[in-house]
Amino acid sequence: MLSAEENDILTKVGPDSDCGRWLRSFWFPIALSDNPVGPTAQLQLDEPFLYNDRPGTATSFGQKAATFEGNPLAVRILGEDLVLYRDLSGDLGLMDINCPHRNSSLEYGRPRERGLACPYHGWTFDNAGECLAMPGEPKNSNFKNKVTIKAYPVREQGGLIWTYMGSGEAPMLPQIDVIAARGGVRIVENFCLWPANWLQIVENSVDQVHTGILHGEGSTRADVWSQIPEVDWHPDDFGIQTVQIRGDYGRTNYLRFPTTILLNQPWPGGKFNWPRYSAIFRTPVDDNHTLLFHVTHVPEVNGKSPELPEGMEFPAAGQVQTLFEQDYRAIVTQGRPVDRTIERLGVTDRGIILLRKMVMEGIDAVRRGEEPKGVLRGAEGEQMLVSAEKVTDALMNTEAAE
Ligand code: FES
Ligand SMILES: [Fe+2]
Repeated sequence: MLSAEENDILTKVGPDSDCGRWLRSFWFPIALSDNPVGPTAQLQLDEPFLYNDRPGTATSFGQKAATFEGNPLAVRILGEDLVLYRDLSGDLGLMDINCPHRNSSLEYGRPRERGLACPYHGWTFDNAGECLAMPGEPKNSNFKNKVTIKAYPVREQGGLIWTYMGSGEAPMLPQIDVIAARGGVRIVENFCLWPANWLQIVENSVDQVHTGILHGEGSTRADVWSQIPEVDWHPDDFGIQTVQIRGDYGRTNYLRFPTTILLNQPWPGGKFNWPRYSAIFRTPVDDNHTLLFHVTHVPEVNGKSPELPEGMEFPAAGQVQTLFEQDYRAIVTQGRPVDRTIERLGVTDRGIILLRKMVMEGIDAVRRGEEPKGVLRGAEGEQMLVSAEKVTDALMNTEAAE
């Protein structure tokens, strides 16, 4: 149970909030790249479903979001309305959606050789936010040297477009094999916009008792999954590993701060006996919405690329639909915002308490003007996070894969 004030501190994402400042210490993916290497997909459900949100409003799941095709795209990230675009020389830019002249939306801007031009009077800005042109002003005017627009750095990695919205020098992009390793096959999926605050989605990653109940009944592996696991948590400077034990079947996941979850990928099953790992990235949109991206990586083994069996289904979305619908219903209906002043936490919620404590430590570090744990810099930041060292799935890797 939290006080209303603590709940606010841990959940607000805007630029003037404490949690928002902590989140701005990290890079976030904001869209699928428009020119990725390897396959990409939009989460396509067999049948979009409706669920009854509180207070009984029917809401559909599977909303298309952040599909960037190179044309200017309006995005809301960490409570800020921005436009993502690619200029005619191929460079990406991300800037305030409102033109500083008279506020027109740059979503309808026109990409130029360099930068993006406002459609109203043609003020043109480059990806550092400098004004390059004001075609309507007198030729000898130097007014354009006095006007800038808010702009953030943008990079591409692992089929996703990333931004860093903090102040000061940007840290390194996450070095996680799923998005950064060379070779193998990589599949990037857009897992849609969830009408939920980032924290309740991330809490689900350390709450692994739910897997035995929410996902247990009716599962194709109900004999294993419906056992309620013994759960334990191992924190380090960069995140929390959650261990679930069911008899001799062990499964671990790893939450990498602030919002990434690394998983051993049980799908696709069948005869595909090859290691595969995935990462789900959660990007806070505003206090009540979060974007999810899913990247699966099937690595090379002994220098060999995976032999994908004939008819193997990628992307995996169809195969995880049931799991996903179950998590979605459970998480989204917790509320917007979740009222944590009335919750009743039990012994098996220790992971949730640990997570909130670690987030609060990060927020406190930022308040003191320090860099929080988990920010990647220097030699430590260059080290690749190898999924196999953090996530396991003892059964799925052996008999279930046969
Ligand atoms: S409103 Fe953008 S140039 Fe005038
Ligand atoms: Fe789940």
